[in-house]
Amino acid sequence: MKDKIFIFDTTLRDGEQSPGASMNISEKVRIAHQLEKLNVDVIEAGFPVSSRGDFEAVKAVAKEIKNIQVAALARANTKDIERAAEALKVAKYPCIHIFLATSDIHLKYKLKKSREEVLKMAAEAVKHARRYADSVEFSAEDASRSDLDFVCKVFASVIKAGATVLNFPDTVGYAVPDEFGQKIKYVMGHTPGIEKARLSVHCHNDLGLAVANSLAAIVHGARQVEVTINGIGERAGNAALEEVIMAIRTRADALKVQTDIVTEHICASSRLVTMITGIPVQPNKAIVGANAFAHEAGIHQDGVLKERTTYEIMNPCAIGLAKSSLVMGKHSGRHAFKQKLKELGYKLGEADIDRVFERFKDLADKKKTVFDDDIEALVTDEIFRGKDKYRLVYLGVVTGTEAVPTATVQIDIDGELHREAEFGVGPIDATFNAITKITKVKAKLLRFSVNSITGGTDAQGEVTVRLEEDGQVVIGQGADADIIIASAKAYLNALNRLEYLKKNPVKSLY
Ligand code: KIV
Ligand code: ZN
Repeated sequence: MKDKIFIFDTTLRDGEQSPGASMNISEKVRIAHQLEKLNVDVIEAGFPVSSRGDFEAVKAVAKEIKNIQVAALARANTKDIERAAEALKVAKYPCIHIFLATSDIHLKYKLKKSREEVLKMAAEAVKHARRYADSVEFSAEDASRSDLDFVCKVFASVIKAGATVLNFPDTVGYAVPDEFGQKIKYVMGHTPGIEKARLSVHCHNDLGLAVANSLAAIVHGARQVEVTINGIGERAGNAALEEVIMAIRTRADALKVQTDIVTEHICASSRLVTMITGIPVQPNKAIVGANAFAHEAGIHQDGVLKERTTYEIMNPCAIGLAKSSLVMGKHSGRHAFKQKLKELGYKLGEADIDRVFERFKDLADKKKTVFDDDIEALVTDEIFRGKDKYRLVYLGVVTGTEAVPTATVQIDIDGELHREAEFGVGPIDATFNAITKITKVKAKLLRFSVNSITGGTDAQGEVTVRLEEDGQVVIGQGADADIIIASAKAYLNALNRLEYLKKNPVKSLY
């Protein structure tokens, strides 16, 4: 049986210290319930003395969460500890988390106290907290820049005072993995009574090493890691829960430990935290980034389709993702393209696939990402190609803050010119109304979307419309530097496809 690593989640406390990430009480409770589903061991809900809101939030989380420990942060003084205890009064499993700096820099400039004073304060605070909670964690703030023998002395003294967890934080994200692992080994070997407590680490990401440092600490005896969802937290953030957990799971052979986390809830947890904090996850972020399971290179796509493990070290289902995705672009090969057609529901013969694939490659040279709609448009265009009935000859619009949007459209229908003008709620609506007046086709507009093919305000706008008439659904596309003209072209393109289908009924391509 592998050793268990306890997961102490501080998304609601250190995570909330991310600039701009404040959460209200109901949002904190919502995240706490999600953390309960993930099955973390401890939820640090806040710092009660810091504000009335934080006090109420810790109280609300303590009231709701009954299966796991709820921790509240306190400095090493009576007022903070009693405020934390008060907020945790209703908690089933309360934990008071006391922190006090141990580095000479903090002692000299911040606390203005001697080592002896800090030693005494730490033991007294822990003793006091034990009157209110069976579980008391003591954090030696800035431990990674502290004199190690002094940290061991403080730890030994707080163990005697009743601390159940000792935390060794890399508060300023200064440590590097090898060195950090050695420090943990030293603490494990030089702290009298260490076997009575659990050693924890809390790593910040200033050098991008928070996860690596946490894993190095585990290798050398730490049995708790302090993490946040998406790695949010003070400055560059904390070690990301999802990265630590998936490293432990994926490399169980190397790390030889386990956690109780239900990894299938990782994706939903990440999305919830993003939604509540408004802090987006970078696309290339490990585990939960949008590209973490997306394959772009043709060789990779082909490999994954043949056997997922050729290019995937984790199964996306393990974090709650339905499947990996194939990003269709210029690097995609025929195998991936064929798979994409299948996913979109098309059953085409090999010759038809070749024709559409050739056009797809041309399009991919112009556009970075080819969306599903683009592929559908290519398929319908290639398969339903006929002589166009409708051709745009002229389009003029009047619009502005004071004007009623009006469009005048001239269309060539089978060699005959037709012109009409119409109003609308905007110039595009007016244009579509004028086209309908001329063509008399009352198709239902199911979808309208605009993408820019190139960047900047002079970008080519590409409009995609999806129309339905008598159960027949078609897609039309049009591109132009003017999006009103692109819209008219897309609408007429769709009408031409409908017209073709009326003359050449095909049961369905799907
Ligand atoms: O980074 C830190 O040292 C902390 C402590 C309160 C544990 O957040
Ligand atoms: Zn921190």
